[in-house]
Amino acid sequence: MDYRLARPFLRLIDPETAHGLAIHALGCGLAGRSREPDDPMLATRVWDLSFRNPVGLAAGFDKDAEVIDAMLALGFGFVEAGTVTPLPQPGNPKPRLFRLDEDEGVINRFGFNSKGLARFVERFKRRDRTAGIAGANVGKNRDTVDAAADYAAGIEATCEWADYLVCNLSSPNTPGLRGLQARAPIEHLVERTLEARQRCSHLARIPPLLAKVGPDLDENQLRDIAEVALAYGLDGLIVGNTTVERPASLRSRHRGETGGLSGAPLTRKAGECLAAMYRLTGGRIPIIGCGGIASGAEAYARIRAGASLVQLYSALVFHGPELVTRIKRELAACLRAGGFAGVAEAVGADHR
Ligand SMILES: Cc1cc2nc3c(=O)[nH]c(=O)nc-3n(C[C@H](O)[C@H](O)[C@H](O)COP(=O)(O)O)c2cc1C
Repeated sequence: MDYRLARPFLRLIDPETAHGLAIHALGCGLAGRSREPDDPMLATRVWDLSFRNPVGLAAGFDKDAEVIDAMLALGFGFVEAGTVTPLPQPGNPKPRLFRLDEDEGVINRFGFNSKGLARFVERFKRRDRTAGIAGANVGKNRDTVDAAADYAAGIEATCEWADYLVCNLSSPNTPGLRGLQARAPIEHLVERTLEARQRCSHLARIPPLLAKVGPDLDENQLRDIAEVALAYGLDGLIVGNTTVERPASLRSRHRGETGGLSGAPLTRKAGECLAAMYRLTGGRIPIIGCGGIASGAEAYARIRAGASLVQLYSALVFHGPELVTRIKRELAACLRAGGFAGVAEAVGADHR
């Protein structure tokens, strides 16, 4: 599929329908394959995993684990499927996805539309494990009271199949979810999910467990999360999710829509939040930087600010899959210009 040809057509239809068409096309093998081999200097090892490049697809694009292999074929170094909830649920009423064209931003209020864990695991199992690295991002059903039980169920069900696991604590579209980022709830949740993972200790390999946090946290909240992550032995953090803030600079007519804002308007805030989290964790656990990344220069800036890996989603909406190749090329050039032999050397360079 040539995105440049499809783009004018995709822009005429509503964004959620366009996304559904893209997933369908990808699922049918109509997507392309990146022809450019990855520059060897982009290869990096994080946890016990070898990434062929540090540029990943963020959660939310492939909520039901339907197109992991196709997205890896486009050149991503890793793909995060989900968020999946234990039981199927429809999410919020439509419309719930808005393209802010003038701002290169997106607002979504999907509210965890999910086909549920059983179907997710079924699809996840079918992926080609040699095609690249895939993570499972888990959440809770809207009406669940014992949130930790839902996360634990997600971890236990995906442990055998995923290369890494993520508890999404930061979607703004499920009532009460972001409250899980406060100190007592996150302690409880980390304990319960680590126990769930422990129940999988018979497996040949135990995947690293990460928490995904939002960019709307103040310094004290970030410190609490950093302390809990270090004290309990979380393996990593993703910083971060969409923002509920609306910068005054937004121009699109959709700027007043409720939901999480992502893409270019989030770049600065997500970068600052990442740098703060790197400082607070002292670089002791890997962080995946995410939010408003649309260029190799920004990926490089995020790595220097403390990210071991980066992810993106919204920029794909505006620039198409060719962007992945461009970012990797630019990132390799930035690393060389900075005098780094590889990604790992550059991680956190701004703090030294
Ligand atoms: C349409 C849409 C749906 C999303 N759904 C999820 C989700 O299910 N789980 C999750 O952890 N993040 C989800 N996100 C957040 C992204 O993974 C990412 O954290 C955020 O969009 C910032 O990155 P970006 O600016 O590159 O898009 C979603 C984002 C968008 C735009």
